[in-house]
Amino acid sequence: MAPIWTALCALTLGQAVLAAPHLEARATGSLDTWLASETSVARQGILHNIGASGVYAASAKPGIVIASPSTDNPDYYYTWTRDSALTLKVVIDLFKNGDGDLLDVIEEYINAQAYIQTVSNPSGGLSSGGLGEPKFNVDETAFTGAWGRPQRDGPALRATALIAFGQWLIDNGYTTQATNIVWPIVRNDLSYVAQYWNNTGFDLWEEVSGSSFFTIAVQHRALVEGSKFASQVGSSCSYCDSQAPQVLCFLQSFWTGSYTLANFGSSRSGKDANTLLGSIHTFDPEADCDDTTFQPCSARALANHKIVTDSFRSIYTLNSGIAEGKAVSVGRYPEDTYYNGNPWYLCTLAAAELLYDALYQWNSIGSLTINSVSLAFFQDIYSSAAMGTYSSSSATYSSIVSAVKTYADGYMSLVEEYAVTNGSLSEQFSKSDGSPLSARDLTWSYAALLTANMRRNSIVPAAWGEASASSVPATCSSTSAIGTYSAATNTDWPSTLTSGSSTATGGTTTTKSTTTKSPSTTSTSCTTPTSVAVTFDLIATTVYGESVKLAGSIDALGDWNTADAVALSADKYTSSDNLWYVTVNLPAGTTFQYKYIRVESDGTIEWESDPNRSYTVPAACSTTAVTESDTWR
Ligand SMILES: *[C@@H]1O[C@H](CO)[C@@H](O)[C@H](O)[C@H]1NC(C)=O
Ligand SMILES: *[C@@H]1O[C@H](CO)[C@@H](O)[C@H](O)[C@H]1NC(C)=O
Ligand SMILES: *[C@@H]1O[C@H](CO)[C@@H](O)[C@H](O)[C@H]1NC(C)=O
Repeated sequence: MAPIWTALCALTLGQAVLAAPHLEARATGSLDTWLASETSVARQGILHNIGASGVYAASAKPGIVIASPSTDNPDYYYTWTRDSALTLKVVIDLFKNGDGDLLDVIEEYINAQAYIQTVSNPSGGLSSGGLGEPKFNVDETAFTGAWGRPQRDGPALRATALIAFGQWLIDNGYTTQATNIVWPIVRNDLSYVAQYWNNTGFDLWEEVSGSSFFTIAVQHRALVEGSKFASQVGSSCSYCDSQAPQVLCFLQSFWTGSYTLANFGSSRSGKDANTLLGSIHTFDPEADCDDTTFQPCSARALANHKIVTDSFRSIYTLNSGIAEGKAVSVGRYPEDTYYNGNPWYLCTLAAAELLYDALYQWNSIGSLTINSVSLAFFQDIYSSAAMGTYSSSSATYSSIVSAVKTYADGYMSLVEEYAVTNGSLSEQFSKSDGSPLSARDLTWSYAALLTANMRRNSIVPAAWGEASASSVPATCSSTSAIGTYSAATNTDWPSTLTSGSSTATGGTTTTKSTTTKSPSTTSTSCTTPTSVAVTFDLIATTVYGESVKLAGSIDALGDWNTADAVALSADKYTSSDNLWYVTVNLPAGTTFQYKYIRVESDGTIEWESDPNRSYTVPAACSTTAVTESDTWR
């Protein structure tokens, strides 16, 4: 969330944010008591935000997860592939742990994703990069406004969520559904990851265009578990197998020696909750404390936990005077200016969850090791910590794990303290007084609360195969592999799967609230676009193996450099309609020259004949998307 585009808006609007009830000096009960009620608020909060039965998502299509009911300042009434997948991952874990009422919403989500994969959008079509589109309108149409796109974590996270459910299907005798309904969707996402992991894209905060730790980490995980899932449904994923080791190889370069760099492509410090989230979303309960995959109990993850959380100690009034080793409110990254830069519930919860994951791993391994990389982390919470390996039967082990548990609970207690008294979790809370800020009832905040609570109770997800996928190739290379793209059309769930479950969203009884708004379509004053989605339609007769690209005099078209030209998609090409197309976001009002180029299967390039084509991007009031139709010369 927090796209840079809305950040600008939020800054000018200053502190004009929602005023939610928050009692400053609220006496907080025991954390256990609070979590017992908060987990049901969070579960309900998620269901409220999923169409079409969710009370705050009534205009969303079935299974579409909105990011928040907030429709202005900020407007999060859209569905993000990342947020939705992270949410469904939690919903599926709850379902697997006995919450049978969630089955219908899981099926609806899967059906919605099968469709949304096919929706052509500014990032491309199904087989031409469109899976990297970060967000869609809640009616499942493409969002064509300016945005930080593509974002390449979405397909990986969706694959992970779907595989978790596919695994349940297989374990419960529904291999047919895993094969025919789930696998075709997962296969598209794995194909995307295998093809594009080595390309830049926007990070999970939608601000940095580059290479992001979180994205690369979740991509590695998806390829590894995707390969195993493929074999379980009688298929295979050679493109997963060829790329996964190389993704892991690249992941190593994010380790600076003392902490994990969040992004290449940014001038910030790189200290960022991105890296905490990367570790918790690739946590494998059967893994060792491997540094290579930054497992939560690894020296790297713990050292980084200290450096990231410490980076927020001095910058928030809320944290003033809190010593190292005591929980603090955690934001996205210290340089953050969105809403003036504040702690986020989901980042503070991630700091807790990482520690609960580590505790689970030490207990299952039966020992804990402190080395020179992790020493400072341990000394903060246990001053006499010294390097060495401590067996779970030792007194030192008991003292350390107890200190880690206290430390983790401290982060949860901060969320308890700064949540709205009725349990609602927004996106952020004020760095100066802890009052809720930005989007209300953020779906991801609720998902984060539920996973942190599950890990606190040692309820962990299934292993994803880390144990056999943690060895790093001797040399890293820039690679890519082409998989298979095909629209997933089977959404024919048998009624026997749903037997015993109740209505769609698990007994939502709240009546439609007057605060529910439909997506904002009213534009009272004229808005001059900053960028316009220009679709180039080209009629060009090609033979198998040829492709077509768009080169031109501006950055977005590669500055005439054919290596950086933009590929067109042929996914609408038929023998009677030789259509190639691509949609590119271009700055409004820009004039440029361009030509199409034909790339033969051996790489030979053929330019269109002269003269150069010329085009001016419209800058008219409220123009967001236009189409230019050309025929190959
Ligand atoms: C591609 O992979 C190579 C090898 O790991 C790495 O050096 C390079 O930075 C990567 N580039 C991107 C954009 O991922
Ligand atoms: C808590 O109160 C706020 C403000 O009145 C409201 O928007 C929100 O939906 C409430 N949350 C719950 C869980 O009842
Ligand atoms: C087209 O643009 C290129 C790059 O600016 C230039 O070198 C070339 O001469 C132009 N072609 C014509 C016919 O103007």
